[in-house]
Amino acid sequence: MAEAIYPVPADWAQNALIDEARYLEMHRRSVEEPDAFWAEEAQRIDWIKPFTKVKNTSFHEEDFGIRWFEDGTLNLSANCLDRHLAERGDTVAILWEPDSPTDASRAITYRELHADVCRLANLLKARGVKAGDRVTIYLPMVPEAAVAMLACARIGAIHSIVFAGFSPDALAGRIEDCDSRVVLTADEGLRGGKRVPLKKNVDEALTHCPAVDTVVVLARTGADVPMQEGRDLPWAQAVAAQSADCAPVEMNAEDPLFILYTSGSTGKPKGVLHTTGGYAVWAAMTHQYVFDYRPGQIYWCAADIGWVTGHSYVVYGPLANGATTVMFEGVPNFPDPSRFWQVVDKFGVEIFYGAPTALRALMREGDEWVHKTSRQSLRLLGSVGEPINPEAWEWYHKVVGEGRCPIVDTWWQTETGGAMITPLPGATALKPGSASKPMFGVQPALLDNDGQVLDGATDGCLVIGDSWPGQMRTVWGDHERFFQTYFTTFKGWYFTGDGCRRDEDGYYWITGRIDDVINVSGHRMGTAEIESALVAHAKVAEAAVVGMPHAIKGQGIYAYVTCNAEVEPDEALRRELVAWVRHEIGPIATPDVIQFAPGLPKTRSGKIMRRILRKIAENDLGSLGDTSTLADPSVVDNLIANRPVLA
Ligand code: WT7
Repeated sequence: MAEAIYPVPADWAQNALIDEARYLEMHRRSVEEPDAFWAEEAQRIDWIKPFTKVKNTSFHEEDFGIRWFEDGTLNLSANCLDRHLAERGDTVAILWEPDSPTDASRAITYRELHADVCRLANLLKARGVKAGDRVTIYLPMVPEAAVAMLACARIGAIHSIVFAGFSPDALAGRIEDCDSRVVLTADEGLRGGKRVPLKKNVDEALTHCPAVDTVVVLARTGADVPMQEGRDLPWAQAVAAQSADCAPVEMNAEDPLFILYTSGSTGKPKGVLHTTGGYAVWAAMTHQYVFDYRPGQIYWCAADIGWVTGHSYVVYGPLANGATTVMFEGVPNFPDPSRFWQVVDKFGVEIFYGAPTALRALMREGDEWVHKTSRQSLRLLGSVGEPINPEAWEWYHKVVGEGRCPIVDTWWQTETGGAMITPLPGATALKPGSASKPMFGVQPALLDNDGQVLDGATDGCLVIGDSWPGQMRTVWGDHERFFQTYFTTFKGWYFTGDGCRRDEDGYYWITGRIDDVINVSGHRMGTAEIESALVAHAKVAEAAVVGMPHAIKGQGIYAYVTCNAEVEPDEALRRELVAWVRHEIGPIATPDVIQFAPGLPKTRSGKIMRRILRKIAENDLGSLGDTSTLADPSVVDNLIANRPVLA
C-alpha cells in the first residue's frame, strides 16, 4: 500500500513564514554558508556585546570542541523578559491551567513575570548564589518553575531541573553530581487529583546531601510540611522581602545555562550541559519556524519542564519570542479525557504540541471526548518524544484537528536542544509517522555498522555531520564521557543512538533506539539504571531489562530477574520488586513485566545476550537469530517456556 501523503494546505503554503522554496534555499545556505546564515539568525537575540566569531566546532579528537558565537555576551532572562516590556509588558506571558478545572487559572503578564523573576533572583543572590553555581529545581508544573529557571539565568546560575516524579534517591544523585547548594521545591505537587510529596522527598534526599544550605518551598497545596530552621524558606514570604529589580548578569555565549540529566545506555544518568548563546538562538528559531509562531498567538506545549521539551518549548523558545505560553499542571485524562481539548477551548489555543503516548491513551477512550469540544481555534498540531504510529497520527489529524491542522512530528533529543528533523507546516508535505526533513543547519546521514555512509533510500544508524548552535557542549563533570558517548562510535559524526530509514523522497523515519535505551511514554530510560535498581534488592542476584512493545506507552519495561539461590520467587516478591524500582527511581520506571529466570542467556565470555531477551519480550520467537555462542542454550528454552502470559 502506498504511504499516505498530505500536501501542504494552500493557505499554509501562501501565508506561512517558510514555504518549500524558502526552506530549500535556507537549508542550502545554512549548510554551505553557516557563518553567514547563523550570524543573521542570531540577530533574533539581543546581544550585550555582539559576537565577531560565529562557529568554531569540530567533532574530531585532535581539535574536538563546540563553540558558537564565542565572544558574544548576552543574558537569556533579559531576552525572555526585559526586552519585551516596552512593547508587550501587558501581554500574557504564561497562561497557567491548574490540575483541577474547578481551581482558578492564572494569567501572568511579561511585566509581572519580570518582577517575580527579579525577586527570586535577588533572593538567590542573598543566599550567596553566584554565576556558575548550580541550583536544583524540583517543582511541579506551576509558573514558579519558569520563574525559577529565568531567575537562575538572570544571575548566571546553572539550573538543574529534576522531574517532580523522580524518587528521593534519583533527586539526591542529581543534587550530588552537580554539587547544588540550593533546591527550589514545593510542599506538594498535584497531578490527576493525586498529591505528590515533594518536600518530603527533598527532605529524604537531603539526608545524603549535607552541602545543601537553602531550600525554598512554594506553598502549592498548603500542606503542613516540616521546615528546617535556617535551611528551609517559605517561597512567598522570602521573595516578598526582595526588590523587584535585579540587573541581568552579562554572560558569555558559552557560559552554561542549564544541566538536565538524561539516561544513557550505561552508567548513571548524565548531566547534559547546554550553554547560553547557541541554545538561545536555536530554541527561539526552531520555536518560530516549526510552529510558524506569530506574536499574539496562544501556544501550548503540554510537556513537563522536567524534560528538555519543557525547557525549550514551554519556557525559553516561546518567551524569547514574546509568546503567550500555556502551562498545564495536570494530566490528559483528569477529570476526564476531554481535558486537553477543554483547555484548548478555554484559552483559544492555536498551536498544540503533545506526545504520542497521551494521544494513544486518549484515542482509546473514544472520539466523543474530543467531539464534545470545539477546537475551532486550533491551526497547528505537534508531536514529540517518540515515533508516532500512523494510526495515532491519522486520529490526531482527523479527529482532533478535523483535517484542517498540519502536524509537525519533531524528532530531537535532550542533547540537541531543539527540533532537528521536523516538517515545517508551510513547506513540507506530511507523511504520517515520518519526522520528515532536517532543520536548518542539520546534516543527517545514515551509516552502516562499519561507519560507511549509505545513500538513497535505506536504513541505517542516524548521525549528524556537523554542529548546530543548540548542541549540548559536555557532560557535566565528565568531558571525556561526552566525547566517548557521542563521537567515537562513528569518528567525525555525532551519533544519535537512533535507527532510521530514509525513503525515496528523502524523508526520515526514526525507527527507535539502537542502544540500550528504551522510550517509555516518551521518557527515556536506561535499561542499565533499572537493572542496577533491581540488583540493589537483597533477594536479587542478577537482572536484565529490555523494552517490549506497549500499545499506549510505546515501549514497556520487561525485566528478567534471577534471584539469590535460597529465594523462592513468587507473586509477592514480584510486587515487592515493582514497588522497589518505583521507590528507587520513580513511577516512570515501573516494570510492566518481571520474569523470574533461573539463568540469563550469556555468551561463553559471560556477556548477556540482550538481543535474545528482546526477542522473547517482543514474543518474536521465530527469529531468535544465532544462538550458537550461548554458553548454555537450555537457558533460552526455559525462558520461553516460562514466559508470563501477557494480557
Ligand atoms: C529520544 C530522545 C525530543 C525531546 C523529548 C525526548 C526519541 C524523540 C521523536 C520523534 C521518533 C523520537 C528518539 C530520541 N524521539 N522525538 N518525533 N520521532 N522518535 O528527549 O528524552 O532526550 O529522548 O526520543 O529515540 O533519541 P529525550
